[in-house]
Amino acid sequence: MGIVQSPDLVYTSRRPANGHPAWKFSSRVSVRRTPAMTNYKSKRVLITGGLGFIGSNLAIRLVQQGADVTLLDAMIPEYGGNLFNIAPVKDDVRINFSNVCDEFSVNHLVKNQDYIFHLAGQVSHIKSMTNPFDDIDFNIKGTVVLMEACKKYNPVAVVVRSGTRGQYGPAIRLPVSEEAPSNPKGIYEISNLTAEKIMKVYYENFGVKSVLLRLTNIYGPRAQMKTHHYGVANWFLRQAIDNETIKVFGDGSIKRDFLFVDDCVDAMLMCAVNPKAYGEILNVGRDDPTTFLELAKLVVETAGSGRWEFAEFTPERKAQEPGDYLSDITKIKQRVGWSPKTPLDEGLRTSIDYYRKHRHEYWEPLDQTVRIV
Ligand SMILES: NC(=O)c1ccc[n+]([C@@H]2O[C@H](COP(=O)([O-])OP(=O)(O)OC[C@H]3O[C@@H](n4cnc5c(N)ncnc54)[C@H](O)[C@@H]3O)[C@@H](O)[C@H]2O)c1
Repeated sequence: MGIVQSPDLVYTSRRPANGHPAWKFSSRVSVRRTPAMTNYKSKRVLITGGLGFIGSNLAIRLVQQGADVTLLDAMIPEYGGNLFNIAPVKDDVRINFSNVCDEFSVNHLVKNQDYIFHLAGQVSHIKSMTNPFDDIDFNIKGTVVLMEACKKYNPVAVVVRSGTRGQYGPAIRLPVSEEAPSNPKGIYEISNLTAEKIMKVYYENFGVKSVLLRLTNIYGPRAQMKTHHYGVANWFLRQAIDNETIKVFGDGSIKRDFLFVDDCVDAMLMCAVNPKAYGEILNVGRDDPTTFLELAKLVVETAGSGRWEFAEFTPERKAQEPGDYLSDITKIKQRVGWSPKTPLDEGLRTSIDYYRKHRHEYWEPLDQTVRIV
């Protein structure tokens, strides 16, 4: 993996946030990233949830590295499945429109795969608290279906799963390491924790190798932009692009470690081929915190449109808010050699450019959009 200093990426503040006290980010030199140096040439790879946000970015990178890629996706409404996501590689991947809970389909698809990236699942914490059944079905049963299929038809495949930082629940201390206790606050998080434990059982008892990742908040191109129910950083981007007001709950001081999707893809690719990651729980995040207020300001500044304002937490959000989170990424650095490469300002700029160019593929024109904030 390499990095290239790029003097043309010096970040400069263009104007103050609309109607709010002037502020400036200090100018800084961004670092342009180059992709992880993995080689998937001629490797057979299955991605469940492959038409979604992370899955499609992963698929594009795998095709670029010469892999033979199959995507399984049920195109569930409200989730991030979008055929446009794979436009750059549409003629180079196989797509199977089926549900990860469909045993017959999954039994067939796992055969002869070298690597399986398991990303299909219910994705919204908020939704899990009103309808928990998709979490139980997709996240828990879907994982069992996949692991049973591997056990029976392909016990040598490596399976990488994208769990969530939410599995820890409220942080006892920052940064949060993999040793921290798990006290999840919602059904989404519990179902992810359960899926992780199921995969561990299949590794320890049946030798199906797995990598159990716990992802922080991921942002970037190819995310779902239809609802604010999940993907808060991407939602901020949409509001700024539409010249709307970003609502920053409370005093905006809650911290997160927002990670650019290309860095997340690097982590997944590097872990899948590294035996030191097998059977391990690994955090994937940025050891560099940003508050929601800083994020909103930087998004508005980078977009050159939109504004932000403070808003009261809704009772629902207040009850569910786990507070500050910052990943301890020492373990993945040491075992796999991965660390994030994309500065926040650069990742936001890349994302804004992408959505400005392809906005109509991700959300409706303003006058047709149902406002749900
Ligand atoms: N994006 C993040 O910030 C983040 C953070 C932590 C964990 N994760 C996890 O990573 C995974 C991918 O998330 P994403 O952001 O790409 O979401 P996404 O909604 O963009 O993609 C998920 C894809 O999975 C598909 N899918 C869902 N259930 C399915 C099922 N039962 N059968 C087949 N396909 C199904 C959807 O149609 C969608 O295309 C999810 O498991 C999510 O929980 C994401």
